[in-house]
Amino acid sequence: MIKVGLIGLGYWGPNLARVLNQTPRCEFTAVCDLDPRRLEKITRQYPRLKGYGRVEDLLDSDVDAVAIATPIGTHYDLARKALHRGKHVFVEKPLADSTARARELDILSKVVDRTLMTGHTFVFSPPVVKVKELVGSGSLGDLQYISFSRVNLGLYQKDVDVVWDLAVHDISILLYWLEESPVQACSFGRSCVQKTKRDIAYLWFQFPSGPIASVEVSWLSPQKLRRTCVVGSERMVVYDDTDPSEKIKIYDRGVNLRPPETFGEYQLSYRMGDMVAPNLANTEPLLIEIEHFLQCIETGETPRTNGKFGADVVAAIEMANQFSWEPETPLLVREAV
Ligand SMILES: NC(=O)c1ccc[n+]([C@@H]2O[C@H](COP(=O)([O-])OP(=O)(O)OC[C@H]3O[C@@H](n4cnc5c(N)ncnc54)[C@H](O)[C@@H]3O)[C@@H](O)[C@H]2O)c1
Repeated sequence: MIKVGLIGLGYWGPNLARVLNQTPRCEFTAVCDLDPRRLEKITRQYPRLKGYGRVEDLLDSDVDAVAIATPIGTHYDLARKALHRGKHVFVEKPLADSTARARELDILSKVVDRTLMTGHTFVFSPPVVKVKELVGSGSLGDLQYISFSRVNLGLYQKDVDVVWDLAVHDISILLYWLEESPVQACSFGRSCVQKTKRDIAYLWFQFPSGPIASVEVSWLSPQKLRRTCVVGSERMVVYDDTDPSEKIKIYDRGVNLRPPETFGEYQLSYRMGDMVAPNLANTEPLLIEIEHFLQCIETGETPRTNGKFGADVVAAIEMANQFSWEPETPLLVREAV
């Protein structure tokens, strides 16, 4: 039985604690946080857990694997230490705060022969997996574009802007569906509340196989939207993660150009076919994700969101940030992080 420890017990860590406790595939034995109150709270909730205030002490214990749910700027150091101590590592998204650091973690995991997985939870969510099947089977036709809206009155982060917090989800979904990285990207955003961090941003990507994608993310919006539209030449899909019963709707709709009958004439024909909402499993993505991590440790298979995948997501963010506008500075070409 794999023994697992959890580092970081802030907002997200307790969700990982819940699923680590729930799954019979591991023995959840230890937790670590710099904040003693958070340690005390979780060890009261799960009395068999051993609590540590220092990561080094948790890594000295007999855990085989660790899950890291600490602020983004700490991921690289903590993951590196854990891999050097021979632990399998699950790191919450994004894998690191720069592509160079993320790639280094990926290489290190191979050198020490340990599983490294990034916590891109949406890649394990049944609706996202369903769209991946539709894209892969070709039933949508040629993909034209994909648009994402992920906005609400969000939880402002102290250390990162809305792109590093929310757009990471959409980029992970894009890379999973398309199985390729963008060739061009740019972004446009504004820091409305905190003057140094964007709380609203638009990102645009172009992919080598043809489709373009837009990602809108905001912490400053009155309504919660989690809406994605995938438009193919044959079918269109709307994925609404806030819809309790019909998260995916597949539309047999499109517009075709009819061959001209006379010189200079062209006509459009609109296809207004049926809409189908497939039945989807209701399993919690976070549980599927953690069980996938444990299975990869057991079998040696490569995680779906392995170190390379995590690093590719970070690289796409950096690509969009390198060519980025803000209204206060009309054209700003950012340094690579
Ligand atoms: N997969 C998802 O859907 C999802 C959702 C939310 C957050 N996250 C990710 O989870 C991670 C944590 O986010 P959060 O909102 O919980 O942050 P948070 O600030 O609420 O909590 C972080 C915790 O880590 C602890 N910590 C910091 N440095 C530490 C160290 N060196 N050793 C031990 N403990 C340390 C802090 O004391 C704090 O309790 C981030 O990477 C975030 O992107 C993922």
